Amino acid sequence: MKRILGIAGSPRPDGNTEFVLERLLAAAEAAGAETRLFALAGKTVAPCTDCGQCTDRQPYCVQSDDMQALYDHMLWAHAIVFGSPVYMGTMTAQLKAVFDRARPLWLMDNALSRKAAAAVAVGEGRWGGQELTIQNIYWAALNHGMVVVGGACLPYGNWEVCGMAGAAGEIAADKEAIAAAEGLGRRLAEMTIDFGPGGESARR
Ligand SMILES: Cc1cc2nc3c(=O)[nH]c(=O)nc-3n(C[C@H](O)[C@H](O)[C@H](O)COP(=O)(O)O)c2cc1C
Repeated sequence: MKRILGIAGSPRPDGNTEFVLERLLAAAEAAGAETRLFALAGKTVAPCTDCGQCTDRQPYCVQSDDMQALYDHMLWAHAIVFGSPVYMGTMTAQLKAVFDRARPLWLMDNALSRKAAAAVAVGEGRWGGQELTIQNIYWAALNHGMVVVGGACLPYGNWEVCGMAGAAGEIAADKEAIAAAEGLGRRLAEMTIDFGPGGESARR
């Protein structure tokens, strides 16, 4: 069974990004996947300090915060959907910290490189930077060697999930974004590519 993890990069509890990811993961579950959602709201993932002590053994990183639990969720997953509100044209600092702190996973035979990555962005503006945020997420995922997956919902740009909403919950009215998220969830669940072991064998 496909295991799909959603990471909501918003610091706002029950925000729009979380809502979109919930719908995406529900569609993936309906298509047969097992899913988990990890929301960064209310949690602490501190920035990397470049202390040079990354290790392939638990706790992986000397900082003992909520990233410790997230390492295990990331290693569990076959596919990870990174969701972020647009903050000043790009992903939140909270989500960027996750990408940076995932550095120890390189030491596990590059564990993330055999996992799929997908992205979701929600911004308040009509042209608020959603596409650039998604591209920045893709680029960070590619830096981890991940295999980027788009929604493949034709026509044209509907391969990506760009939500438009400001106040928490407002995203429910963005039917196109919800439909794109559900399409991406189904696609991730249905993909038959087997990337091989994704770090589980390397977990200690
Ligand atoms: C610090 C900050 C910066 C933001 N920058 C942008 C931006 O550049 N473009 C945009 O469209 N919306 C921007 N927004 C609005 C949020 O992206 C929007 O409210 C989004 O729905 C929040 O998602 P959430 O509910 O998941 O936190 C910003 C909000 C904050 C708090």
